[in-house]
Amino acid sequence: MIRIAPSILNANFDDLPSEIAKISAVSDLLHLDVMDNIFVPNLTFSQKEAMEIITQSPLPVDVHLMVADGDVQGVEYAKSLAHSVTVHLESCIDPLATLREIRSHRTRAGLAIKPNTAIDQIKEFIDEVDMILIMTVEPGFGGQTFMAEMMPKVETARKWLRERTGSDIWLEVDGGISEKTIAIARKAGADTFVAGSAVFGSEDPAEMVEHLRFLAQSIN
Ligand code: DX5
Ligand code: ZN
Repeated sequence: MIRIAPSILNANFDDLPSEIAKISAVSDLLHLDVMDNIFVPNLTFSQKEAMEIITQSPLPVDVHLMVADGDVQGVEYAKSLAHSVTVHLESCIDPLATLREIRSHRTRAGLAIKPNTAIDQIKEFIDEVDMILIMTVEPGFGGQTFMAEMMPKVETARKWLRERTGSDIWLEVDGGISEKTIAIARKAGADTFVAGSAVFGSEDPAEMVEHLRFLAQSIN
């Protein structure tokens, strides 16, 4: 199962409803990047704005929290209508408690790692998550170059997941996913693909989502 999750980070913030409408019929999830200008050097939505997008979205929302207080905000977003809430390992004091609390609200819990964080650091949490997010750029901005050197981490995570038959843990990559890179990430084992500038920077965002899906599906 391949999932394409367009990120609205590089969409036109002045008219998000019509930007989202462009891709909603062909996408699986809407990826919402929440940044606080502390964990990353960029600020996106206030919690109020993010909650509004979550409530109004025609697509299930995949919240990616790039905030310093991951434990606190993780739980706050879990209480919203978000489909999944992903916290960064680097931002949590007690990742285990936070992941369990997110799940207790019937929200899928994701755990993300930045490029400099080793994959082994999340192994102990694997049975507590519904999604692993391996960043393929340094979080903070859209439009950066895909880091192919992250693929060994994706391969390792895929190996762990293969050993867990019957579990439904998604493996997401985020950063620099485009028609040039999606096959590389798919080959390494990712099944959920965030794409921001590739989708919203293209002439026809819906067609690009379908094209990315086709490219990912072409890999066995
Ligand atoms: C970056 C964000 C990404 C970003 C991806 O920190 O987490 O979701 O929107 O944008 P592209 O696809 O342009 O790299
Ligand atoms: Zn993101």
